[in-house]
Amino acid sequence: MTKKTALITGATSGIGYQLTELLAANGYDLILVARNEEKMLEIKAALPDHSVMVIKKDLSEQSAAKDVFQSVESAGLSIDVLINNAGFGLIGTFDTVPIEQQTQMIQLNVLALTELTAYFMPQLKRNKGRILNVASTAAFQPGPFMAVYFATKAFVLSLSEALAEELKGSGVTVTTLCPGPTSTNFGVVAHAEDIKMFSKTMDANRVAKIGYQAMMKGKSVVISGALNHAGAIAAKLLPRSWGAKAVRFVTKKS
Ligand SMILES: NC(=O)c1ccc[n+]([C@@H]2O[C@H](COP(=O)([O-])OP(=O)(O)OC[C@H]3O[C@@H](n4cnc5c(N)ncnc54)[C@H](OP(=O)(O)O)[C@@H]3O)[C@@H](O)[C@H]2O)c1
Repeated sequence: MTKKTALITGATSGIGYQLTELLAANGYDLILVARNEEKMLEIKAALPDHSVMVIKKDLSEQSAAKDVFQSVESAGLSIDVLINNAGFGLIGTFDTVPIEQQTQMIQLNVLALTELTAYFMPQLKRNKGRILNVASTAAFQPGPFMAVYFATKAFVLSLSEALAEELKGSGVTVTTLCPGPTSTNFGVVAHAEDIKMFSKTMDANRVAKIGYQAMMKGKSVVISGALNHAGAIAAKLLPRSWGAKAVRFVTKKS
């Protein structure tokens, strides 16, 4: 029997790395996409029983998603699982974080995810595949001091929920994973390690397992952790201005 193939963006670190391990343990062949080629080759070398394709790509560059799709097609491969995980955040007031960096964030978190989903949809429909989009609990309310990041994740959640409904009956499932603060490299990249929001974090391995299991069950949305779940419910019930105030309290640098 031919093995199924999963494409994972941001496979080199954190949640994406843990998802990669889980997929390999469950017998998937892999297509890894990220910028750190050395790390991807290391993952490949550690999985001699799997076919692993490595695509070194900066997904914040325009047309990166198309390049990835063309590389997969040229290799004669077709995917059964698409994991749109790569993403980053930046902390700071809207006017102090350079707009070029905010635009890169939108390009990666929003556009690359949308484009990869579109390019691979015909393959996923043919293979009755699964999509896992990594959003965040940031998707549930506005996020002062991480305004663009929170907005990108609101987009990911809205798009993914809409596609989950639209694709019912097609054989393709779309799952959105909404992690809360998780121990990965995210805090370092965002310059956010010292803020209140990151005082308590979940294990990336636990978060990845929750996402993987939800994807396999074809669930539409999954929030990792009871506390994060409670926060998401509160965000739904309370005025959005209260949500913004609560985020301000945990994201403001002292
Ligand atoms: N950690 C948290 O607290 C948290 C909470 C909620 C949601 N999330 C979401 O979880 C996802 C994974 O993040 P993480 O926490 O695991 O962070 P991480 O440890 O920093 O991992 C991010 C991954 O994305 C890849 N990546 C970053 N920029 C890229 C680019 N321009 N092109 C291609 N790949 C790129 C990185 O690989 P390279 O550096 O090799 O390119 C890395 O593999 C993100 O979407 C993030 O928004 C994280």
